[in-house]
Amino acid sequence: MLTSDDNSVATFLRAACAAGRPGDRLPSVRQLQQRFHVSPITVQRVVRALVMEGKAVARPGDGTFVTSGVASPTRPVDHSWQTVLLGRSPEVGRGLEHLAIPRAASTLGLDTGFPDPMLQAQHLLATAAARCARRSEAWDRCPPQGLVELRTVFAAELGGPFSPADVLITPGAQAALDSIFRVLARPGDPVVMEDPCYPGAIVASTLAGLVPIPVPTDEHGVLPDALGDVLARSGARMMVVQPRHSNPTGSIMTSERRVSILAIAREFGCFIIEDDWVRDLDLDGPSGPPLIIDDQHGHVITIRSLSKAAAPGLRVAAVIARGPALARLVSARLAADFFTAPLLQTIAAEILPSAVWQRHLVVLRSALRERRDLLVTELAAHAPQLRCTPPRGGVAIWVQLPAGIDEAALASACADRGVGVSVGNTYRLTESPHGYLRLAFGTSEASSLSVAAERIGSALRSLLDQ
Ligand SMILES: Cc1ncc(COP(=O)(O)O)c(C=O)c1O
Repeated sequence: MLTSDDNSVATFLRAACAAGRPGDRLPSVRQLQQRFHVSPITVQRVVRALVMEGKAVARPGDGTFVTSGVASPTRPVDHSWQTVLLGRSPEVGRGLEHLAIPRAASTLGLDTGFPDPMLQAQHLLATAAARCARRSEAWDRCPPQGLVELRTVFAAELGGPFSPADVLITPGAQAALDSIFRVLARPGDPVVMEDPCYPGAIVASTLAGLVPIPVPTDEHGVLPDALGDVLARSGARMMVVQPRHSNPTGSIMTSERRVSILAIAREFGCFIIEDDWVRDLDLDGPSGPPLIIDDQHGHVITIRSLSKAAAPGLRVAAVIARGPALARLVSARLAADFFTAPLLQTIAAEILPSAVWQRHLVVLRSALRERRDLLVTELAAHAPQLRCTPPRGGVAIWVQLPAGIDEAALASACADRGVGVSVGNTYRLTESPHGYLRLAFGTSEASSLSVAAERIGSALRSLLDQ
């Protein structure tokens, strides 16, 4: 994300790329620093943005060069045989692109929960990576369940009766969801999901041939009576819940709700998939322990992600499960990719128990708290018609639109003004009487959040005036 201070450098370099020929050398970091009186970090951020846009290529130690920008002319290729063979597209992954693909530097991206690179643990990771890469086990084969030293860290974090034998390492929480849907259910099975819920869970379950069934929620998560009814009617034996800082609503399950949900799972003989996606991001005090702590009988399978607190590229998550379910998930790992990259596992094992990681979390939480509060204040000033309840943790605010405002139209008006937002419908399995947007506050620097709120206000006014 570029700040307003970066604009002059960016404008200059974009013009140089447009005017230059492929292979032309762009001015060096030092030259740009002197010319625009900015820091090397600013220049590097702009260059990174241009590289991501495909306008320039950086060769470390050599310089930055203009890319061709024009696809090389090729003979037209006939792929129609593939269309005949593959049939209708399942549209797998549509709507999730913002989770994986870096966005254009010119957009204020409030549509992905990954904190901006300045808030990520990149420095910590790079230092640990340099050390870990010299260790033989970082490159060798590894048990499909994961390195025992990392599993020990995750088991110790849970405490109680949990041991490294209950932990499986996966390349991220998304991969864990994918394996669980494929291995612990059969194609055609219903799977109960909170409405609204994380779109990645909807997509992965659908890809596995499952049928997502919505269960209504309130500010404390799933409604127990409705859950009982849904399980009875659908015959589903798996549900996905986010007990803390749920994505997108930010709801937190109360202790009574937790007891009820566990009792229902026991009564129906169900798996509860607990997606603990922002374990480290309580912003206003503790939000309670993971649900699995209260489960004696192996109903709960917890997925513990690291990507929001560390960095999206640290593709390491833990699944805590017991019994045959765990054994099947370990086999699935073997079939999918043998094991999670041991280099990443050794890095995580080194960082997570360290004091510097704890310090990183303190700084990250404080920055997120500040940005959340700023966005809420700025929205109240520029778009007072929006209803936002500040979440007690996580990375985004779930914002209710005034009656009659179409969420897709508002998202499009925001996009016209250079602001990316997530449309409420992406998270829903049912119709809603109101439109919603999900606004992530960690992706943008504080100054950009004020600009974004102003533009969202302008987009909303343009629709209200119609
Ligand atoms: C609720 C939720 N669960 C799981 C994931 C996937 O996390 P990971 O990056 O660890 O794959 C995300 C990513 O945004 C998420 O929002």
